[in-house]
Amino acid sequence: MKNRLTDSQGRVINYLRLSVTDRCNLRCSYCIPSSQRNFIPHNEILSYEEIVKTLAVMAKNGLQKVRLTGGEPLVRKDIDLLVREIKKIQEIREVTITTNATLLSVHADRLKRSGIDRINISLDTLNPHTFEKITGKDELSFVLEGIQSAKEAGMTPVKINTVILNNINSSEIEELAALSIENDFHIRFIELMPIGSLNYYEKHKLSASFVKKTIENRFGELVRLNLSQLAGPAAMYKIRNSKGKIGFIHAMTSHFCAECNRIRLTADGHIRPCLLEDSFVDLKEILRKNADDKEILQRIKYALTQKASAHDLIPNVKTEMATIGG
Ligand code: 5AD
Ligand code: SF4
Repeated sequence: MKNRLTDSQGRVINYLRLSVTDRCNLRCSYCIPSSQRNFIPHNEILSYEEIVKTLAVMAKNGLQKVRLTGGEPLVRKDIDLLVREIKKIQEIREVTITTNATLLSVHADRLKRSGIDRINISLDTLNPHTFEKITGKDELSFVLEGIQSAKEAGMTPVKINTVILNNINSSEIEELAALSIENDFHIRFIELMPIGSLNYYEKHKLSASFVKKTIENRFGELVRLNLSQLAGPAAMYKIRNSKGKIGFIHAMTSHFCAECNRIRLTADGHIRPCLLEDSFVDLKEILRKNADDKEILQRIKYALTQKASAHDLIPNVKTEMATIGG
């Protein structure tokens, strides 16, 4: 029988979210509560060799999809070379990246040539002042250029992730949704999660169903789309006669834990079985002791036994998003 990674609930794990750095050139208010954060020292970060070795073991055991995250993955040097190496692992069918796109116009062509399959871009606002308020930097124009470069490099459909924040960008819901009318973009509205500060969460949370209603009031009833399982946890729709799609990620108001097929590997080499649980299993320790494939696999399997069956609706996760990589 073919080897497969399964967790304690029997869920098959075929998707890895790989954080390649905890560093980021932005300071989104919902992600990095304090600007005084200590970054992980360079020698504690997994090397590309260590990452590729781990992924090769996982691929022999059912891993099919890898998403590079951060922090901001494009701040890590030669990220396209890592993509190239991961693409050489036969069993891995899809390599994607989540980026804030501030550096994308410089990287888009190289990334495309490295074989990246798709790109997700974080964009919460079209207003430069609101952008600066959310991210701490006046760099919206770079992001918009980055999106254009992705489109021109043929990395389509471009997926855009928008975290909706009550009283910050909630007045732009219709305008952001409208990006999907003329462009083959997937605009995915994500519910704010209480990662870091509960206070911020209580102040700015807004349900995906409110966002959907707001869009329908303006553009008419959305058409529901049935996509494959691999499409992930977003419920997908479209505005009638539009080129793109609109998605809702009900991170907080409905559970998709039962279908969860993913685990995370942090930049400093810890396996994090569930985003919303503060538990980690150290993989770097054994990688640096020159563990063989069997030992690496054993440690990964052990981590999977720690994966929760479902998360609480109001968890209180202390670890900042930028260290776990979305
Ligand atoms: N809630 C929801 N999504 C978040 N992200 C980061 N922090 C949060 C949070 N608290 C997601 C955003 C961003 C990506 C990098 O991580 O979608 O686009
Ligand atoms: Fe913002 Fe993403 Fe950077 Fe966090 S990692 S500060 S969400 S750009």
